[in-house]
Amino acid sequence: MFEGFLRESILGRAAKKGICEINVVDLREFGEGRYKKIDDKPYGGGPGCLMTCGPWFRAVESVATPGCEVVMTTPCGKRFSQADSRELAASACHVVFMCGHYEGFDERIRTLATREYSIGDFVMTGGELAAAAMCDSIARLLPGVLGGGPEAVADESFSSSDLLEAPQYTHPASFRGMDVPAVLLSGDHKRIDAWRRANRRLKRGK
Ligand SMILES: C[S@@+](CC[C@H](N)C(=O)[O-])C[C@H]1O[C@@H](n2cnc3c(N)ncnc32)[C@H](O)[C@@H]1O
Repeated sequence: MFEGFLRESILGRAAKKGICEINVVDLREFGEGRYKKIDDKPYGGGPGCLMTCGPWFRAVESVATPGCEVVMTTPCGKRFSQADSRELAASACHVVFMCGHYEGFDERIRTLATREYSIGDFVMTGGELAAAAMCDSIARLLPGVLGGGPEAVADESFSSSDLLEAPQYTHPASFRGMDVPAVLLSGDHKRIDAWRRANRRLKRGK
């Protein structure tokens, strides 16, 4: 699941530039018995299977470094935000993402995590997409990853408080009766900045 993403994404380019390094660990390698089992039925009954402790403890212990962040992906976690992304980009030099499957993790596996994040109030089949989304969001904040330098992220949505970015336009100046606000064509950067500040959206889209 990570191959295409790591090759094509901004993260892949960052890795090629040597700004960050990404390693994918196959939990199955830490599985138990002949079939490398990583799941079992829940105590007390219930549908499906849970991921078992042994493989997860061995896998995380094999990659963790002193002071690293270990992020468990789970719908029950704190909702991941741009503030979390900024914090991890600024302070963590090593982040381990735990991607769950089946019905999730045996509760004791949570003790491995330093953070538990959800990427939204919906349930996916596995944690890979959640880890990829968080990785992408963190990596683009690392110095040198985006072409435009720090300004590239300074005024975008959630850069300060919960404000979203101001409406943006490119050519043509008029399209099907919809005109670009005249101030943006004025070349007056003071007025343009003031307009952008005043028009940072407070409301979400439809
Ligand atoms: C089918 S889900 C498990 C759902 C769990 N039984 C529950 O009700 O909360 C399997 C795995 O996908 C990942 N996952 C699913 N939805 C997620 C979300 N919204 N955010 C982060 N991870 C998610 C987690 O790693 C989870 O352990």
